[in-house]
Amino acid sequence: RTHSIAVLPGDGIGPEVTAAALAVLDAAQERFGFTTERTDVPLGADHYLSTGELLPDATVEELRGHDAILFGAIGSPTVTPGILERGIILALRRQMEQAINLRPVRLYDGVPTPIAGLTPERCDMVIVRENTEGAYVAQGSTVHAGTSAQVAVQESVNTWYAVERAVDFAFRLASVRRKKLTLCHKTNVLVEAGKLWTRAMEEVGARYPDVETDYVHVDAMCMHLPVNPERFDVVVTDNLFGDIVTDLGAVVQGGLGVAASGNLNIAGTGTSMFEPIHGSAPDIAGRGWANPAGACLSLSMMLGHLGEGEAAAAVEAAAAAVVAQLPALAGAEMGATTEELGRRIADLVRDG
Ligand code: NAI
Ligand code: MG
Repeated sequence: RTHSIAVLPGDGIGPEVTAAALAVLDAAQERFGFTTERTDVPLGADHYLSTGELLPDATVEELRGHDAILFGAIGSPTVTPGILERGIILALRRQMEQAINLRPVRLYDGVPTPIAGLTPERCDMVIVRENTEGAYVAQGSTVHAGTSAQVAVQESVNTWYAVERAVDFAFRLASVRRKKLTLCHKTNVLVEAGKLWTRAMEEVGARYPDVETDYVHVDAMCMHLPVNPERFDVVVTDNLFGDIVTDLGAVVQGGLGVAASGNLNIAGTGTSMFEPIHGSAPDIAGRGWANPAGACLSLSMMLGHLGEGEAAAAVEAAAAAVVAQLPALAGAEMGATTEELGRRIADLVRDG
């Protein structure tokens, strides 16, 4: 079996954690007997500053020809904040129709969490974030800019097309897990969008009679997720709430450095992309202090997506085992460099 993979290391610690993940991929290939063809795609700050290009159409077409994309992180202090993030990540998610942002929130055995008394048995959920619209369509307008009369309108777009497919994906996922799906929204205040999401839960839910549903307001979610995580199996939510709640999920599971995600094209019209949820961390870039676990767990998700289930499970277990041994989950206090941790995870994958 051969899989073609586009590798987008990006900026800052992106290339550092991606290199560690690729060493783990090498080990997985050796052990499980598949191969990959890898294409390096140089998107990010350096490419933008030297060419003025963010995400050229030709690059999008090239990415379409691959079975999966492994992404590091993007963002640099040398570029006005937002240009790279909107011009590359958000654009890629939309153009590649990566409808779903899938975020497992799983506390692994031995990984410290700031939440007292939390155990792995209680914390194992998946957050399904709608990935293409909501408030992130970047539509809006400002009048009287710079004056005391300034007014900003920031729109949130919610279509049946995108919401129904996100909700359907979440039901399907719940039906092969613990059969419970929670809608997270703010339907009491965001009434119009709320009606659409609630309708989707009801209509799509009729097709999944064995999945139990419930509803939690996003503010209450911020209390329940750390305090009663066992309450959740699959959580479906919109783009903005999902962005926020998944960072909270990352804290519960041990920090930004260990959280993974998949941007999934579920229509077969584009390529899915897997990335750690952290950014380019310019504050620690170049020091070898980045935790590669999130990148390795994203690799695991990518392998599952490619049908390499055994390799996916081995990489997940190895990353979890190595993270559990660290004295701290980030910075110099980890006691090992990014590269060294990648090598340890790779060794565990190779040795079985
Ligand atoms: P960040 O996630 O890069 O860093 C936040 C904090 O967590 C920093 O103190 C950083 O050192 C630490 N951290 C992050 N990942 C770590 C890891 N693997 N190991 C150890 N420590 C880690 O978020 P920040 O600082 O808000 O953004 C930096 C840049 O990244 C910005 O340009 C931002 O727009 C961009 N960004 C890009 C994302 C992406 O590529 N998908 C996602 C989030 C932010
Ligand atoms: Mg975020």
